[in-house]
Amino acid sequence: MTWNFSEINQDVDKDIESVVDQKTLEDFRIKYLGRKGLVQKIFASLGTLSKEEKPIVGKDSNILKNRLSSLLEQKQKEIANKKSNAGKTKLDVSLPGVSFASGHTHLISQTIEEICDIFEKLGFIVEEGPEIETEHYNFSALNIPANHPSRDGFDTFYLNAPDPKEKGVNLLLRSHTSPGQIRIMEEHKPPLAVIIPGKVYRPDAVDASHSFMFHQIEGLLIDKDIKFSHLKGLLSAFCKRLFGDKIEMRFRPHFFPFTEPSAEVDISWAQGKKTWLEIMGCGLVHPAVFKAAGYPKGKYTGLAFGLGVERIAMLKYGIKDIRTFYENDDRFLKQF
Ligand code: DAH
Repeated sequence: MTWNFSEINQDVDKDIESVVDQKTLEDFRIKYLGRKGLVQKIFASLGTLSKEEKPIVGKDSNILKNRLSSLLEQKQKEIANKKSNAGKTKLDVSLPGVSFASGHTHLISQTIEEICDIFEKLGFIVEEGPEIETEHYNFSALNIPANHPSRDGFDTFYLNAPDPKEKGVNLLLRSHTSPGQIRIMEEHKPPLAVIIPGKVYRPDAVDASHSFMFHQIEGLLIDKDIKFSHLKGLLSAFCKRLFGDKIEMRFRPHFFPFTEPSAEVDISWAQGKKTWLEIMGCGLVHPAVFKAAGYPKGKYTGLAFGLGVERIAMLKYGIKDIRTFYENDDRFLKQF
């Protein structure tokens, strides 16, 4: 009996296709390379062949055996790989990427940065003062009289903690950033140009335009011969840079104990009927304030101003309710 190797190879091709796991691999091995498998049968038959056939069949059967061995080895590897990859998802580079939401600066901080930036470009430096203050810095040194209503418990948060420097008086949460003026004057000699951003606290009932905590920025410039015209020029330049060249301003006479003369600044966009909106208080530093800070009488003059950050951000971005700044609603925060 002689063997048709090309037919055998075709069978091998077909059979190896159906090898998918350890079990079918073993079946394949037994069928071809087992003790009673085809290769053994061919070898066993060599003795029955003629002298001429024997070397040809011998050679072909060796080739077949080698081929089967390498096919087995290859399949064995494939099956092992499949097993170790089972449960792992394949990488699909065509899938859209996953993007992660990243946070950004809060609108109040952005506004503070923007305002500070404008003043820094005009030569001011930025300083900060403490949120827990004494009556001295928050009121007395600013020429606010002892019977002034803003000192009342209804207008200022007093802490249950005695002022270590003044007997019988409690510490408080600053109700404005103006105490920073005194602290700066005590620490630095003129000429000085400083802005002081920070949180302030007032026991106001919360509504669309009031909050018990909000932000102010205080400005103070001290030198010799500072006049109201310097104040007007400075604040006009500031408003134009913040709101644009088309902004209109007016200085309306007002009263603050720590400045004389004092004014409030109103702005208008002059769209249709003109409406004026108040954005800050300002004035020339009162002599009593210089005195409280220990400055020699009559030597220096200065200008000061204080603005509400929330109010400015609300005007600039058309925000109707101050509470939206503090509610941490992503839908609001994301817009700015
Ligand atoms: N401290 C004032 C307030 O909270 C704002 C203010 C007005 C500050 C006039 C000033 C100023 O420096 O000159 O209402």
